[in-house]
Parts: sequence; C-alpha cells; structure tokens
Amino acid sequence: MSQPHLQIVVGSTRPGRRGLAVATWIHDLAVKHAGFDVQLVDLAEVGLPFLDEPRPPQRGEYVHEHTRRWSETVRSGDAYMFVVPEYNHSYGAATKNALDYLAKEWAGKPVSFVGYGGVAAGARAIQALVPVVSALGMVPLAHSVNIPFIRHAITPDGRFEPAPGLDENATGVIDELLRLTTALSAVRLATPAG
Ligand SMILES: Cc1cc2nc3c(=O)[nH]c(=O)nc-3n(C[C@H](O)[C@H](O)[C@H](O)COP(=O)(O)O)c2cc1C
Repeated sequence: MSQPHLQIVVGSTRPGRRGLAVATWIHDLAVKHAGFDVQLVDLAEVGLPFLDEPRPPQRGEYVHEHTRRWSETVRSGDAYMFVVPEYNHSYGAATKNALDYLAKEWAGKPVSFVGYGGVAAGARAIQALVPVVSALGMVPLAHSVNIPFIRHAITPDGRFEPAPGLDENATGVIDELLRLTTALSAVRLATPAG
C-alpha cells in the first residue's frame, strides 16, 4: 500500500523569511521518519492572489486557474503540517488566504503545526489557527512543535539549527500525525466527499 501523502506548507511568504529554513528542517525530518510520502508546499511559489473567487468555496465551482491548481494540490494531501510564524500575536495573512480559498479539499484530514517567533514560540499563531482549521473540518493534533527566539536559530548560511531535543520532539509529533492520518483515512473512506 502506498504511504500517506504529507504536505508541509510554508506559511510565510516575505523576502528574507525564516520560514523556509524551518520548513526545510521539518521536511527533512519527515523524510527521515519514512512514514509519509512528503511534499514541501511553498505558499510563496503557489502565489495565490487575495481570494478572488466569486462563489463560496464549499461549492467547488472555481473560475480561476490558480484556484483549480491549488485545489488539485491540496486534494492530493492526506495530512498537513503548517509551518507558521507569529505575526502580531496571530498567524500571517498568506496562510489564512490559502486556507480560505478551499473547503472540501481540507475536510476530514489531520493537521499539525510548527510555530516559531519570539518568546511565545509561535504558540499564539497556532492557537489562532485551531478554530480556523476546525471550521474547515480538519482535525488538529493535540501537540505541536514550538520554536522560540527564531532569529537566534538561523545560521549565517541560512539554515535552521534546532535546539537540543527539538528533533526528537518534532519526530514525536510526526509519529502522532501518522497515527491520526491512519485513523482518519478509514473514516474518509467510509464517508465519500460530497
Ligand atoms: C509583521 C510581523 C509581526 C510580528 N509579530 C510577532 C509577534 O507578535 N510575536 C512574536 O513572537 N514575533 C513576532 N514577529 C517576529 C517573527 O515571528 C519573526 O520575525 C519570524 O522570523 C517571522 O517569520 P518569517 O521570517 O518566516 O516571516 C513578527 C514579525 C513580523 C514580520
């Protein structure tokens, strides 16, 4: 049987963002974990404009090619990890926009978070995301990966340097995500998408 497809979503898009380094680290850990087929999905590359679909996403009647492409990408995911910075005690607009574009494509699937920022380690960004993903019918994991003081964790050549113990912590979250993905796949198989 093929492995479930995990999409690691890079939730920041600004030039010079640290999010890509964090996402590359978690991507490599997930590949090493070997429980998923892993894909990095960079919202900067996806390049969605602010939501410009005339009809509500629940209907799936998309008029724009960029929406159809985004729908196809997200539809192929069985599980998601959102890598999100804390911006003004919440998460960034690019992530909200990417979520709002679609509906059924997200529903019934598990999602986990890698949050980063200053002293709060992205916790407020993650807390703000939980009701949003729940509204979309996703199932958020109880545990997340939290990275404090991100600016001190990036090397001069732009790599993310995890603090001691963080690799193990993140691998535990990937394990938990795999268990939830397996459980929810059975539910999704029994509940055809409408
Ligand atoms: C617009 C903006 C708002 C921010 N607000 C917060 C904040 O409320 N709490 C925090 O811990 N860090 C905050 N930061 C610091 C970011 O978490 C940090 O710069 C991080 O690297 C941003 O992610 P990025 O580099 O992937 O864009 C903020 C940064 C930006 C650019």
